[in-house]
Amino acid sequence: MKGIILHGGHGTRLRPLTHTGPKQLLPIANKPMSQYALEDLKNVGIHDIAIILGDIYPEKVREYYGNGEEFGVNITYIYQEKPKGISHAIRLCKEFVGNDKFIVYLGDNVLRKNLTDYTKKFSSSDLDAMILLCEVDNPSKFGVAYVDKDDSSKIKNIIEKPKNSTSNLAVIGVYFLTPKIFGIIDNLKPSSRGELEITDALQLLMDKGNTIAHDIVTGWWKDTGTPEDIIHANRLVLDSIGTENQFLVEKDISTKDNIIIGSNTKISQDSSIIGPAIIGKNCKIESGVRLGPYVSIGDGCTLENCSIENSIIMENCKIDAQVNLVSSIIAQSSQIDGNTISKKSQFLLGERTHLKL
Ligand code: G1P
Repeated sequence: MKGIILHGGHGTRLRPLTHTGPKQLLPIANKPMSQYALEDLKNVGIHDIAIILGDIYPEKVREYYGNGEEFGVNITYIYQEKPKGISHAIRLCKEFVGNDKFIVYLGDNVLRKNLTDYTKKFSSSDLDAMILLCEVDNPSKFGVAYVDKDDSSKIKNIIEKPKNSTSNLAVIGVYFLTPKIFGIIDNLKPSSRGELEITDALQLLMDKGNTIAHDIVTGWWKDTGTPEDIIHANRLVLDSIGTENQFLVEKDISTKDNIIIGSNTKISQDSSIIGPAIIGKNCKIESGVRLGPYVSIGDGCTLENCSIENSIIMENCKIDAQVNLVSSIIAQSSQIDGNTISKKSQFLLGERTHLKL
């Protein structure tokens, strides 16, 4: 089987974070979110992976993943010049896929459960497609599947972002497909948002008499479209420290209870850290600092005097102020200093911001 990771899109709801890079490289528990997708694919034995690049700093994606060797996979890069939809991106991969079955993974989706069982089921079947569903409270934000009332193994319809949906089964951004989908996509028309939708391709595949299976995932799934989603995903991943730990296996770290600390990081005795939390390498956590719970601190950060909870601080940030950060995202190489702020502060700072309080 082959793998495809979608790495395009404009990430407008994540600005200013996406002014300087694609959203899929934003870190969750100190790891770019698309790396979770790549590792999920690798862990089911998929080594040939295409990454579909968009027009938001695609060079940063190439710089991070290179040819894939460092991650134990072979990466092919394919450009999607304009964000014309998931089906359009898949169609660009026809040559790459050849006659193989394949998995398409949206690089902004993070899934708790690994893909082992689903991949076994799909690869040994003669199914034309398989999708994963998850019960959600807000189905109108997703593609939604409508299951047959009399036979729950059958899907009747798949609709993109329906208003007032009677089903709460969202279609997760991990699709198990065969090359049959390419001919289907050739017959698609753009949706009202001007995209070739994956949900329309799946519907047409069914309409032409092909079989699509589904599974309802247990455990969490997160589509990370907004800053709140990213902070939530960070909490969910950090919660897995000390359990299966599949999300946080790294070299050069030490784990103490549910706190992960990178190499060469110095932590003052007079600071306090409440897990779950992850602190990268080469950080300085000075006296008086209070971290956690649910905090990710990237490599090379220096923190003094501050208190941080339920937040993501990316690499090389410097915070030296009596500030109490909650539910914040501070992008790399930013600096916060100045006077004391006694009440809780929630900041969303783009890369290289200097905030003087
Ligand atoms: C896309 C798909 C949608 C799916 C979702 C999962 O939505 O179109 O069917 O449920 O990803 O993350 P988009 O992120 O483009 O709004």
